[in-house]
Amino acid sequence: MSPRQSPSDTGRLAHFITIDGLKRDTLVRILDTADTFQTASDRQVRKFPTLRGKTIVNLFFENSTRTLTTFELAATRLSADVVNLKLDHSSTQKGETLLDTLRTLEAMHCDLFIVRHSDSGAAHFIASHVGDEVSVLNAGDGQHAHPTQAMLDCYTIRRHRPDLENLRVLIVGDILHSRVARSQIMALNTLGVRSLSVLAPPTLLPSAIHALGVDVADNLDEAVVDKDVIIMLRVQYERMREVHVPGPEEYRRQYGLTEERLARANPGCLVMHPGPINRQVEIDSSVADGPQSVILEQVGNGVAIRMAILSMMLSS
Ligand code: CP
Repeated sequence: MSPRQSPSDTGRLAHFITIDGLKRDTLVRILDTADTFQTASDRQVRKFPTLRGKTIVNLFFENSTRTLTTFELAATRLSADVVNLKLDHSSTQKGETLLDTLRTLEAMHCDLFIVRHSDSGAAHFIASHVGDEVSVLNAGDGQHAHPTQAMLDCYTIRRHRPDLENLRVLIVGDILHSRVARSQIMALNTLGVRSLSVLAPPTLLPSAIHALGVDVADNLDEAVVDKDVIIMLRVQYERMREVHVPGPEEYRRQYGLTEERLARANPGCLVMHPGPINRQVEIDSSVADGPQSVILEQVGNGVAIRMAILSMMLSS
């Protein structure tokens, strides 16, 4: 459990670093809170006073399109003041340490740091070094965790299929390097899906995968049969220090989601991907852009789910 992450008696989350250790009722409360924001947004109510007077800093030490933008939108729609620290133009470029950067921002009375970092454990480290009045939210750290992505994925599934307990879910791709997969596995298991399987090239499967509570499949043509949700993961070429996978064409042949493969899954099977996608590698364009794909819905739902989590961390 991360420092002070678990909800207090009032239900407030001090930090949000990982799904690990959070109870089912906390995850359900996040999903239900997101529903209220989504419903209001659908009625053209786009702005809420919930976090008026609060200051949120986006501290992204690693690139992002979806997460950064949806956090900025979520915080703005909750009426918080938002600062996107441009780290490539900040004093970290002059050698300032991470801790000195944190102390500097804390001196400005910021309430919450949203942190993305290429090092696993970075958000936990920051949460361990800030004062009690500052909250830390993990927006993706190395290969460890991406808890808000997992929650928006669960939210997207629940909006289509509220009967989570009946669903058979398959996660396919680069599990080894995927902070998203780790967080999804914890969230989906905590919420109680019927079955959860993973499939990856042997070199991209963590050795302790069974300890995460999943079945391991080895043939995609067979694994897709009877699935209600298929989550494809990006091949993370940038995290590979040696060659772990066949070339893109061979990868697609063995592990890519094609129309033919999707046709073997249950009717209406949801196709998901956290993005960014490698088209014609882990997923064909005709599937990514097809009628069963909810990939762009995932992005849009990121706003409501992040509004929910921010409000549960900062509203008193
Ligand atoms: N899914 C995700 O984290 O995307 P970004 O890297 O664009 O934020």
